[in-house]
Amino acid sequence: MKHLLSIEELDGDTLHHLVNDAVKLKAERGQHSSQPLADQTWAMMFSKSSTRTRVSFEVGVRELGGSVMFLSANDIQLGRGEPIKDTARVLGRMVHGCIIRTFAQQDVVDFAEHSHIPTINALTDEEHPCQILADLLTIHETIGGWDGKKIVFIGDGDNNMSRSWIWAAKYLGFELVVAAPEACLPPAEFMAKVDACNVTLTSDPISAIKGADVINTDVWLSMGQEGQAQKEALFADYQVNEQLLSHAAKDHIVLHCLPAYREKEISEAVLEAHSAVIFQQAENRLHAQKAVLAALAE
Ligand code: CP
Ligand code: NVA
Repeated sequence: MKHLLSIEELDGDTLHHLVNDAVKLKAERGQHSSQPLADQTWAMMFSKSSTRTRVSFEVGVRELGGSVMFLSANDIQLGRGEPIKDTARVLGRMVHGCIIRTFAQQDVVDFAEHSHIPTINALTDEEHPCQILADLLTIHETIGGWDGKKIVFIGDGDNNMSRSWIWAAKYLGFELVVAAPEACLPPAEFMAKVDACNVTLTSDPISAIKGADVINTDVWLSMGQEGQAQKEALFADYQVNEQLLSHAAKDHIVLHCLPAYREKEISEAVLEAHSAVIFQQAENRLHAQKAVLAALAE
Protein backbone atom coordinates (compact mmCIF):
# COMPACT_ATOMS: atom_id res chain seq x y z
CA MET A 1 0.00 0.00 0.00
CA LYS A 2 1.53 3.33 -1.07
CA HIS A 3 -1.22 5.70 0.07
CA LEU A 4 -4.61 5.64 1.78
CA LEU A 5 -6.67 7.89 -0.47
CA SER A 6 -10.04 6.14 -0.23
CA ILE A 7 -11.75 2.87 0.62
CA GLU A 8 -12.62 2.69 -3.09
CA GLU A 9 -9.06 1.95 -4.06
CA LEU A 10 -8.51 -0.73 -1.40
CA ASP A 11 -9.68 -4.34 -1.51
CA GLY A 12 -11.04 -6.92 0.91
CA ASP A 13 -7.62 -8.41 1.76
CA THR A 14 -6.14 -5.01 2.61
CA LEU A 15 -9.11 -4.13 4.79
CA HIS A 16 -8.79 -7.42 6.68
CA HIS A 17 -5.04 -6.94 7.13
CA LEU A 18 -5.41 -3.39 8.42
CA VAL A 19 -8.07 -4.39 10.95
CA ASN A 20 -5.98 -7.37 12.12
CA ASP A 21 -2.88 -5.16 12.43
CA ALA A 22 -4.92 -2.62 14.39
CA VAL A 23 -6.01 -5.35 16.82
CA LYS A 24 -2.34 -6.23 17.43
CA LEU A 25 -1.22 -2.61 17.77
CA LYS A 26 -4.02 -1.94 20.23
CA ALA A 27 -3.00 -4.92 22.37
CA GLU A 28 0.68 -3.87 22.24
CA ARG A 29 0.13 -0.19 22.96
CA GLY A 30 2.96 1.17 25.11
CA GLN A 31 5.27 -1.74 24.29
CA HIS A 32 5.66 -1.74 20.50
CA SER A 33 8.53 -3.96 19.42
CA SER A 34 9.35 -1.79 16.38
CA GLN A 35 9.23 1.92 15.58
CA PRO A 36 8.35 1.97 11.87
CA LEU A 37 8.34 5.79 11.71
CA ALA A 38 11.72 6.24 13.46
CA ASP A 39 13.61 9.27 12.06
CA GLN A 40 10.57 10.34 10.03
CA THR A 41 8.64 13.61 10.13
CA TRP A 42 5.02 13.61 8.95
CA ALA A 43 2.92 16.64 8.10
CA MET A 44 -0.79 17.02 8.77
CA MET A 45 -2.38 19.55 6.43
CA PHE A 46 -5.95 20.33 7.50
CA SER A 47 -8.47 22.65 5.83
CA LYS A 48 -11.37 21.59 8.10
CA SER A 49 -11.82 21.31 11.88
CA SER A 50 -10.95 18.11 13.68
CA THR A 51 -10.68 16.69 17.18
CA ARG A 52 -10.44 12.90 16.83
CA THR A 53 -8.51 12.71 13.58
CA ARG A 54 -5.97 15.34 14.56
CA VAL A 55 -5.29 13.99 18.03
CA SER A 56 -5.24 10.32 17.01
CA PHE A 57 -2.78 10.95 14.18
CA GLU A 58 -0.52 13.16 16.29
CA VAL A 59 -0.40 10.53 19.03
CA GLY A 60 -0.15 7.66 16.54
CA VAL A 61 2.83 9.06 14.63
CA ARG A 62 4.68 9.70 17.90
CA GLU A 63 3.91 6.23 19.30
CA LEU A 64 5.42 4.72 16.14
CA GLY A 65 8.62 6.69 16.61
CA GLY A 66 8.05 9.63 14.26
CA SER A 67 7.52 13.32 14.72
CA VAL A 68 4.61 15.28 13.33
CA MET A 69 3.81 18.88 12.39
CA PHE A 70 0.28 20.25 12.14
CA LEU A 71 -0.31 22.69 9.29
CA SER A 72 -3.59 24.50 9.27
CA ALA A 73 -4.31 25.32 5.62
CA ASN A 74 -5.08 28.88 6.65
CA ASP A 75 -1.59 29.33 8.08
CA ILE A 76 0.33 28.12 5.04
CA GLN A 77 0.46 29.56 1.53
CA LEU A 78 -2.07 26.96 0.35
CA GLY A 79 -4.71 29.08 2.07
CA ARG A 80 -3.62 32.07 -0.03
CA GLY A 81 -3.95 30.17 -3.27
CA GLU A 82 -0.67 28.32 -3.75
CA PRO A 83 -1.58 25.29 -5.87
CA ILE A 84 -1.76 21.89 -4.20
CA LYS A 85 0.77 20.47 -6.68
CA ASP A 86 3.37 23.08 -5.69
CA THR A 87 2.68 22.52 -2.00
CA ALA A 88 3.08 18.79 -2.66
CA ARG A 89 6.41 19.24 -4.44
CA VAL A 90 7.77 21.26 -1.51
CA LEU A 91 6.52 19.00 1.28
CA GLY A 92 7.57 15.91 -0.66
CA ARG A 93 11.21 17.06 -0.43
CA MET A 94 11.06 17.66 3.32
CA VAL A 95 8.69 15.31 5.11
CA HIS A 96 8.18 11.55 4.89
CA GLY A 97 4.40 11.43 4.68
CA CYS A 98 1.36 13.67 4.74
CA ILE A 99 -2.11 13.38 6.28
CA ILE A 100 -4.65 15.65 4.60
CA ARG A 101 -8.15 16.79 5.57
CA THR A 102 -9.77 18.88 2.89
CA PHE A 103 -12.77 19.37 0.63
CA ALA A 104 -11.97 17.99 -2.84
CA GLN A 105 -10.89 14.36 -3.19
CA GLN A 106 -8.86 15.44 -6.22
CA ASP A 107 -6.60 17.53 -3.97
CA VAL A 108 -5.57 14.42 -2.05
CA VAL A 109 -5.02 12.52 -5.29
CA ASP A 110 -2.95 15.40 -6.72
CA PHE A 111 -0.91 15.70 -3.55
CA ALA A 112 -0.03 12.01 -3.66
CA GLU A 113 0.93 12.23 -7.33
CA HIS A 114 3.14 15.31 -7.02
CA SER A 115 4.72 14.75 -3.59
CA HIS A 116 5.82 11.12 -4.10
CA ILE A 117 5.40 10.53 -0.35
CA PRO A 118 2.79 8.37 1.41
CA THR A 119 -0.45 10.35 1.58
CA ILE A 120 -3.44 9.68 3.82
CA ASN A 121 -6.97 10.98 3.31
CA ALA A 122 -8.08 12.21 6.73
CA LEU A 123 -11.53 13.15 5.31
CA THR A 124 -12.62 14.74 2.07
CA ASP A 125 -16.12 15.55 0.86
CA GLU A 126 -16.07 12.16 -0.89
CA GLU A 127 -14.59 9.69 1.60
CA HIS A 128 -13.51 9.19 5.21
CA PRO A 129 -11.46 5.99 4.96
CA CYS A 130 -9.71 6.25 8.36
CA GLN A 131 -13.08 6.38 10.11
CA ILE A 132 -14.33 3.27 8.33
CA LEU A 133 -11.24 1.33 9.45
CA ALA A 134 -11.93 2.32 13.06
CA ASP A 135 -15.59 1.37 12.64
CA LEU A 136 -14.67 -2.06 11.25
CA LEU A 137 -12.31 -2.60 14.18
CA THR A 138 -15.14 -1.69 16.57
CA ILE A 139 -17.54 -4.11 14.87
CA HIS A 140 -14.88 -6.82 15.05
CA GLU A 141 -14.38 -6.20 18.78
CA THR A 142 -18.01 -5.88 19.81
CA ILE A 143 -19.97 -8.36 17.69
CA GLY A 144 -17.17 -10.53 16.34
CA GLY A 145 -17.08 -9.12 12.80
CA TRP A 146 -19.31 -8.21 9.89
CA ASP A 147 -19.84 -11.56 8.17
CA GLY A 148 -23.55 -12.33 7.98
CA LYS A 149 -24.43 -9.08 9.72
CA LYS A 150 -26.89 -6.41 8.58
CA ILE A 151 -25.33 -2.96 8.74
CA VAL A 152 -27.42 0.18 8.26
CA PHE A 153 -26.23 3.68 7.52
CA ILE A 154 -29.00 6.15 8.28
CA GLY A 155 -28.77 9.88 7.61
CA ASP A 156 -27.14 11.67 4.70
CA GLY A 157 -26.77 8.77 2.29
CA ASP A 158 -24.57 10.75 -0.05
CA ASN A 159 -21.76 12.01 2.18
CA ASN A 160 -18.19 10.93 2.85
CA MET A 161 -19.18 8.37 5.50
CA SER A 162 -21.93 6.69 3.50
CA ARG A 163 -19.77 6.49 0.40
CA SER A 164 -16.88 4.94 2.28
CA TRP A 165 -19.30 2.45 3.90
CA ILE A 166 -20.68 1.51 0.49
CA TRP A 167 -17.20 0.72 -0.82
CA ALA A 168 -16.41 -1.26 2.35
CA ALA A 169 -19.58 -3.32 1.83
CA LYS A 170 -18.60 -4.06 -1.75
CA TYR A 171 -15.19 -5.41 -0.72
CA LEU A 172 -16.25 -7.20 2.49
CA GLY A 173 -19.59 -8.57 1.32
CA PHE A 174 -21.81 -7.71 4.29
CA GLU A 175 -25.39 -6.55 3.82
CA LEU A 176 -25.52 -2.74 3.85
CA VAL A 177 -28.71 -0.71 3.76
CA VAL A 178 -28.44 3.04 3.27
CA ALA A 179 -31.54 4.87 4.51
CA ALA A 180 -31.90 8.53 3.56
CA PRO A 181 -34.41 10.97 2.14
CA GLU A 182 -34.75 10.49 -1.62
CA ALA A 183 -32.74 13.64 -2.35
CA CYS A 184 -29.89 12.45 -0.11
CA LEU A 185 -29.38 8.96 -1.52
CA PRO A 186 -26.24 8.32 -3.54
CA PRO A 187 -26.80 8.96 -7.26
CA ALA A 188 -27.37 6.13 -9.73
CA GLU A 189 -24.00 6.77 -11.46
CA PHE A 190 -22.16 6.22 -8.17
CA MET A 191 -24.10 3.04 -7.41
CA ALA A 192 -23.45 1.77 -10.94
CA LYS A 193 -19.72 2.38 -10.46
CA VAL A 194 -19.73 0.49 -7.14
CA ASP A 195 -21.81 -2.33 -8.64
CA ALA A 196 -22.50 -4.17 -5.36
CA CYS A 197 -25.66 -6.29 -5.10
CA ASN A 198 -25.30 -6.44 -1.28
CA VAL A 199 -25.94 -2.69 -0.94
CA THR A 200 -29.52 -1.42 -1.03
CA LEU A 201 -30.90 2.08 -0.80
CA THR A 202 -34.20 3.06 0.77
CA SER A 203 -36.10 6.08 2.03
CA ASP A 204 -37.94 3.97 4.61
CA PRO A 205 -35.99 4.10 7.89
CA ILE A 206 -38.13 1.45 9.62
CA SER A 207 -37.73 -1.19 6.93
CA ALA A 208 -34.02 -0.37 6.81
CA ILE A 209 -33.49 -0.92 10.51
CA LYS A 210 -35.52 -4.14 10.78
CA GLY A 211 -33.18 -6.82 12.14
CA ALA A 212 -30.11 -4.57 11.86
CA ASP A 213 -27.04 -5.56 13.85
CA VAL A 214 -25.17 -2.28 13.37
CA ILE A 215 -26.86 1.10 13.10
CA ASN A 216 -24.53 3.80 11.95
CA THR A 217 -25.31 7.49 11.67
CA ASP A 218 -23.54 10.77 11.05
CA VAL A 219 -24.35 14.47 10.96
CA TRP A 220 -27.04 15.57 8.54
CA LEU A 221 -24.95 18.52 7.38
CA SER A 222 -21.30 17.78 6.79
CA MET A 223 -18.51 20.32 7.17
CA GLY A 224 -18.91 22.87 4.42
CA GLN A 225 -22.73 22.50 4.38
CA GLU A 226 -23.41 24.53 7.51
CA GLY A 227 -26.56 26.61 7.32
CA GLN A 228 -28.33 24.46 4.70
CA ALA A 229 -31.62 24.51 6.66
CA GLN A 230 -33.60 23.18 3.70
CA LYS A 231 -31.46 20.07 3.51
CA GLU A 232 -31.59 19.54 7.28
CA ALA A 233 -35.39 19.70 7.25
CA LEU A 234 -35.51 16.57 5.06
CA PHE A 235 -34.20 14.36 7.87
CA ALA A 236 -37.00 14.69 10.44
CA ASP A 237 -37.89 10.96 10.17
CA TYR A 238 -34.31 9.74 10.19
CA GLN A 239 -33.28 10.36 13.79
CA VAL A 240 -31.75 7.35 15.52
CA ASN A 241 -33.90 7.18 18.66
CA GLU A 242 -35.33 4.49 20.93
CA GLN A 243 -38.47 4.11 18.86
CA LEU A 244 -36.55 3.47 15.65
CA LEU A 245 -34.14 1.12 17.43
CA SER A 246 -37.06 -1.01 18.67
CA HIS A 247 -37.05 -2.53 15.15
CA ALA A 248 -33.35 -3.48 15.23
CA ALA A 249 -31.86 -6.90 16.11
CA LYS A 250 -31.75 -7.68 19.83
CA ASP A 251 -28.02 -7.23 20.38
CA HIS A 252 -27.50 -4.33 17.99
CA ILE A 253 -24.78 -1.75 18.36
CA VAL A 254 -25.02 1.93 17.44
CA LEU A 255 -22.06 3.71 15.85
CA HIS A 256 -21.51 7.42 15.36
CA CYS A 257 -18.25 8.80 13.99
CA LEU A 258 -18.73 11.96 16.09
CA PRO A 259 -19.11 14.87 16.56
CA ALA A 260 -22.80 14.22 17.30
CA TYR A 261 -25.66 16.69 17.27
CA ARG A 262 -28.04 15.47 19.96
CA GLU A 263 -31.74 15.44 19.12
CA LYS A 264 -30.84 15.81 15.45
CA GLU A 265 -29.35 12.66 13.88
CA ILE A 266 -29.31 10.85 17.26
CA SER A 267 -31.29 11.29 20.46
CA GLU A 268 -29.49 12.10 23.69
CA ALA A 269 -30.87 8.88 25.25
CA VAL A 270 -29.53 6.66 22.46
CA LEU A 271 -26.17 8.39 22.37
CA GLU A 272 -25.71 7.93 26.11
CA ALA A 273 -27.07 4.37 26.16
CA HIS A 274 -24.55 3.41 23.46
CA SER A 275 -21.72 5.67 24.58
CA ALA A 276 -19.42 2.82 25.62
CA VAL A 277 -19.24 1.55 22.04
CA ILE A 278 -19.33 5.00 20.44
CA PHE A 279 -16.31 6.18 22.45
CA GLN A 280 -14.56 2.84 21.90
CA GLN A 281 -15.10 3.61 18.21
CA ALA A 282 -13.49 7.04 18.71
CA GLU A 283 -10.49 5.49 20.50
CA ASN A 284 -10.15 2.98 17.68
CA ARG A 285 -9.20 5.81 15.33
CA LEU A 286 -5.79 5.74 17.02
CA HIS A 287 -5.24 2.00 16.63
CA ALA A 288 -6.60 1.76 13.07
CA GLN A 289 -4.52 4.70 11.90
CA LYS A 290 -1.37 3.29 13.48
CA ALA A 291 -1.97 0.21 11.33
CA VAL A 292 -2.21 2.47 8.27
CA LEU A 293 0.94 4.42 9.21
CA ALA A 294 2.89 1.21 9.80
CA ALA A 295 1.73 -0.23 6.47
CA LEU A 296 2.72 2.94 4.60
CA ALA A 297 6.14 3.05 6.28
CA GLU A 298 7.02 -0.47 5.08
N1 CP B 1 -14.89 11.47 13.28
C1 CP B 1 -14.00 12.43 13.02
O1 CP B 1 -13.33 12.44 11.98
O2 CP B 1 -13.87 13.37 13.99
P1 CP B 1 -13.08 14.74 13.91
O3 CP B 1 -13.79 15.60 12.88
O4 CP B 1 -13.12 15.30 15.27
O5 CP B 1 -11.67 14.46 13.44
N1 NVA C 1 -19.76 13.71 7.37
C1 NVA C 1 -19.08 14.43 8.41
C2 NVA C 1 -18.06 13.58 9.09
C3 NVA C 1 -17.37 14.26 10.24
C4 NVA C 1 -16.33 13.40 10.88
C5 NVA C 1 -18.43 15.68 7.84
O1 NVA C 1 -17.84 15.59 6.77
O2 NVA C 1 -18.54 16.74 8.45
